[in-house]
Amino acid sequence: MSLIPQDFIQELLGRVDIVEVVGRSVQLKKAGTNYKGLCPFHTEKSASFTVSPSKQFYHCFGCGAHGSAIGFLMEQSGMSFPDAVRELARDAGMELPQQEADEGEQRRAAEQRSHKVRLREVLQQAEGFYRERLRASTRAIDYLKGRGLSGRSAARYGLGYAPDDWQGLAKVFPNYEAELLLQSGLVVARDAQGQTLEPSQAAGATVARRYDRLRDRITFPIRNAQGEIIGFGGRVLDRGEPKYLNSPETELFHKGEELYGLFEARQAIQRHGQVLVVEGYLDVIALAQHGVEHAVATLGTACTPEHVRKLFRYCAQIVFSFDGDTAGRRAAARAMQSALPVLSDERSVKFLFLPAEHDPDSFVRELGADAFEREIARARPLSVFLLDHIGEGLALDTAEGRAQAIARGRELIGSIPESALKGQIVNELAQRLRTPADELRAALALPGHRRAGSAAPPPANSAGGAPRPKPVEPRMQRLSRPQVDHARTAMRILLAHPGLWRDISTAQHDLLVAHAGSVGELARWLESYLDEHAEPTPSSVWEALRAEGLLEAAEALDPAELLERDTAELQPDLRGALESIEMAWIKQRQQALAAEGLADPASRLEYQGLSLRLRELMRSLPRL
Ligand code: UTP
Ligand code: MN
Repeated sequence: MSLIPQDFIQELLGRVDIVEVVGRSVQLKKAGTNYKGLCPFHTEKSASFTVSPSKQFYHCFGCGAHGSAIGFLMEQSGMSFPDAVRELARDAGMELPQQEADEGEQRRAAEQRSHKVRLREVLQQAEGFYRERLRASTRAIDYLKGRGLSGRSAARYGLGYAPDDWQGLAKVFPNYEAELLLQSGLVVARDAQGQTLEPSQAAGATVARRYDRLRDRITFPIRNAQGEIIGFGGRVLDRGEPKYLNSPETELFHKGEELYGLFEARQAIQRHGQVLVVEGYLDVIALAQHGVEHAVATLGTACTPEHVRKLFRYCAQIVFSFDGDTAGRRAAARAMQSALPVLSDERSVKFLFLPAEHDPDSFVRELGADAFEREIARARPLSVFLLDHIGEGLALDTAEGRAQAIARGRELIGSIPESALKGQIVNELAQRLRTPADELRAALALPGHRRAGSAAPPPANSAGGAPRPKPVEPRMQRLSRPQVDHARTAMRILLAHPGLWRDISTAQHDLLVAHAGSVGELARWLESYLDEHAEPTPSSVWEALRAEGLLEAAEALDPAELLERDTAELQPDLRGALESIEMAWIKQRQQALAAEGLADPASRLEYQGLSLRLRELMRSLPRL
């Protein structure tokens, strides 16, 4: 992502003329409304390289090269993105926003990056040392064996042993005084008063005493999702306090965002479409050793919304596992609160409470993976846990109890983004409280039910750059291959001809923005982009995609191929694709309604409405 503000880029693209920019190095001839020339990116004899002044876009039909004026400079002269922007801005007489051009700033950013690289190297070296010490310590090996760990698991998770030595790391780091050791969290520093210095205070401080943070402990390297070591956890071998000692917050390690085992588990998570969140290092390792490979652990902290958001990037279903005791229940309630603002209809969160005498480690060792998978299958959906939590300990058969439940529910339910799920939860709570849903809605101070796709502003969302929650209808359960292809076709057309977005029906719109994976992500992005740019050119769309980190995902759909086509000509293709998706969804929804027995008038009405719409869609189907 670039540091240059997107507004500036968009204005720049409006000012420069791509014909002029390309014309400096390619001989262009007018051909209709476009210009043609020999492609600078591959060798050719006849001109298949076109530049469109109206789209401010170039495209080669020979080799497929395409892009904006910025992209052209980057491709043609190998310039970096900021350099290409700088050059175009100079030509256009535009001044780059001061702060971004600040070289000092850039230098500091570069220094920070290389500092992080050095920190990672230090941690990596420490890991090697701890591993080697483990091989040399029969006591540590016996401890791990005693806990049922295989040598393979220990190797896979990089387990080690920190020797019982105040300055054991001096053996790997001859310069034990190096600030880097404090900043990495490996070494603890105290000043003359005996105060501990935080890693961030290490630079330039006077240190009276330094020693290894982890001594006589089993070490667990903590990796980020890329597999880089960012910290360590350490467990005592015998009894001792504290049982676990973790790295402090450092430049690399932020407890509230990182999850232990994510790197090792991420493929299994994607394969399962599910992630299991447990409490301890050894839970993760024991589960994986027994074949439950999609587990991760929080690092001795409560689960944060950042954790939840991060996990939802890998899959749509999170199962939290907690011990069956009161502490576990409290931790579950906190995890639920973190999950609520990040919920949507295509995401699911469940809670698994193990029998009080077990944690996942002991459970899987004693009863095996199949029994554990059965527990997962029985996990309680968030909606059930939430409703139980709201009513817990209250006498719901009294007005007072119900009022208290409403007070509890207000904040919890209020933090769920508008969605079908939220509507269902309110309805369910209304039944439990024997209160009409509309009345409850008012009592919870929730906005009245909004039509999906209405012009009302989206609810405020604490999520920084996360996609905006959208009011959406129930999602497709599972998409068949052709449906995925239809969605990709639709998105491909829309990226090339965003003006067609306005022609889409509300239901189809909802299906697109709630679509899994990059299609949904692109749809949500395009929608918010169109809110601010009424008449976008392809060049501005492409550069905005680049800034959002979505260019690659968009290019995978190959929309540039469609830029030359007439918008009107593509309209039937778009309609066909969207209607196929909608029909598939309707059939699925009807099956779900039928499976629930169509017992109440509301679901019968919905079913009939869907039948009508389905017939309408069938009639408009092109005759084969
Ligand atoms: P538990 O106390 O439940 O331990 O801590 P556990 O995972 O079952 O550990 P074993 O099986 O006795 O070895 C759960 C997690 O809480 C954090 C650690 O991340 C641990 O894995 N924790 C626990 C700490 O950070 N510090 C502690 O003192 C204890
Ligand atoms: Mn345990």
